[in-house]
Amino acid sequence: MGEDLNIQKGSKEEKYKLLVPQLKALCEGEPNRIANLANVAAAVKQTFDYYWVGFYLVEDNELVLAPFQGPIACTRIKMGRGVCGKAWEKAETILVENVDEFPGHIACSSLSKSEIVVPIIKNDEVIGVFDLDHDKLSAFDAVDRKYLNEICLWLGSIL
Ligand code: SME
Repeated sequence: MGEDLNIQKGSKEEKYKLLVPQLKALCEGEPNRIANLANVAAAVKQTFDYYWVGFYLVEDNELVLAPFQGPIACTRIKMGRGVCGKAWEKAETILVENVDEFPGHIACSSLSKSEIVVPIIKNDEVIGVFDLDHDKLSAFDAVDRKYLNEICLWLGSIL
């Protein structure tokens, strides 16, 4: 693909519809997972301008910070801790409308108000999570859930 990301004007759904094939094209033929996750984080951040967009990968039974876009973040998260650790433990997507109401939420930044975390599953095992934060309440919805699940399903197949 070309060097510039093509970003659709319009609804969130229209943006995801144009973004997903571009993510696949960006990673096509590239075996390095850090390179691929770096470009996915950058492309999603560029498209939506969410506050924080990034990955944690499972290493030695902890989630370890991986490619991201946004302010600095905590480097290690244990299973069951915070939204990320819960999404890992349960192997399911967690959408949080208000992070202050999520027991055990890990506040990497006080500006983060809502969050969605999607597990990346490979061979029935969670190998990492995709974490997105917003500085507004209730910013993520069913559209994010649907397309981020699709993106993570695909990531599980290429990582
Ligand atoms: N809020 C997350 C921690 C990671 S940061 O948001 C980047 C959590 O509760 O797991």
